[in-house]
Amino acid sequence: MSYKGIADFRSDTVTRPSEEMRQAMYNAEVGDDVFADDPTVNKLEELAAEKVGKEAAIFVPSGTMGNTIAMVLEVGEGKEVILEENCHILNFEAGNISRIAHAVPRAMPSDRGKIPLDLIEKNIHTTLRDHMPTTRAIALENTHNTWGGAVIGLDYIEKAAALSRKYNLYLHLDGARIFNAAAALQVDVKEISKHFDSLMFCLSKGLSAPVGSMLAGTKEFIKEARFVRKYLGGGMRQAGVIAAAGIVALEKMIHRLQDDHRRAKLLAEKIADLKELRVNPQEVETNMIMLTLNTMTADLFLKKLAAQNVLALPFNTKTVRIVTHKDIDDNDIERAVKAIREAVG
Ligand SMILES: Cc1ncc(COP(=O)(O)O)c(C=O)c1O
Repeated sequence: MSYKGIADFRSDTVTRPSEEMRQAMYNAEVGDDVFADDPTVNKLEELAAEKVGKEAAIFVPSGTMGNTIAMVLEVGEGKEVILEENCHILNFEAGNISRIAHAVPRAMPSDRGKIPLDLIEKNIHTTLRDHMPTTRAIALENTHNTWGGAVIGLDYIEKAAALSRKYNLYLHLDGARIFNAAAALQVDVKEISKHFDSLMFCLSKGLSAPVGSMLAGTKEFIKEARFVRKYLGGGMRQAGVIAAAGIVALEKMIHRLQDDHRRAKLLAEKIADLKELRVNPQEVETNMIMLTLNTMTADLFLKKLAAQNVLALPFNTKTVRIVTHKDIDDNDIERAVKAIREAVG
């Protein structure tokens, strides 16, 4: 249900914590997480590792910090990571990949997040040469934000994992929305995560927790991640207060992601006939819709929607992103359809 009468489709990060989360936060048993003795954080980390089938996990304040830690540990100064040209790590993380990890991003074009595997292979340099940085890792994003929540399937992931093994590279997943990917593929999330050395996923997106993300991998990797988190200023103290909501997110919020996907598809289908904009319902694989306006600017379009208490996000001057989540229900979809139809008049 919309909050204070506003149907907010800007992102799945705008969700308010559920009542159960608020209760869990209120009652959370806490300690000092920098001393690793906050029982609620420890429980969350164990649960997260278990869910994605990894040895260990660490609670971090944001997805950006989780990805940054992975880039520091798996790539590092002057080494190269192959990633997709529109990915979040490269485009939306404040330049941390160079600012903090000092890594060299080798950005590649893709088919909705899937970089052609032969192109990846051609660009791997593992033997030291005079001029070229050595490749250390491949990073994928699933679901892919800029590609409108596109899902990378298991077949591609298996092949990318085989490639990374062949060249002894790390394979990292920016899985901010990995549970959306698993829901769309109708598989247990482990079927995706087992192919990656490390993965980051967010509790604060579709899973509706107020704060926090998890980075998962081997015990050794997570031990080192604790050190990097500390020097980045991410050592939190009585973090059990927020970890408690993360536990509810992992235990109670995964199963409902299918509803978000169904609603996103429905919305796209209900506006697909409009001449002023382009939207392809078949490309709506998860909880995001990208629509491109033919003549109107995104800003004007969004102002018209906002006048009807419907919010969405400009992606560029002509493209708008609409995201469904826990606080969007069937009524809100109807409201958005009506507002969009009126806006393009
Ligand atoms: C694909 C992806 N990765 C990483 C992040 C970063 O998460 P945070 O906003 O918690 O730093 C986001 C946030 O939108 C994202 O969409």
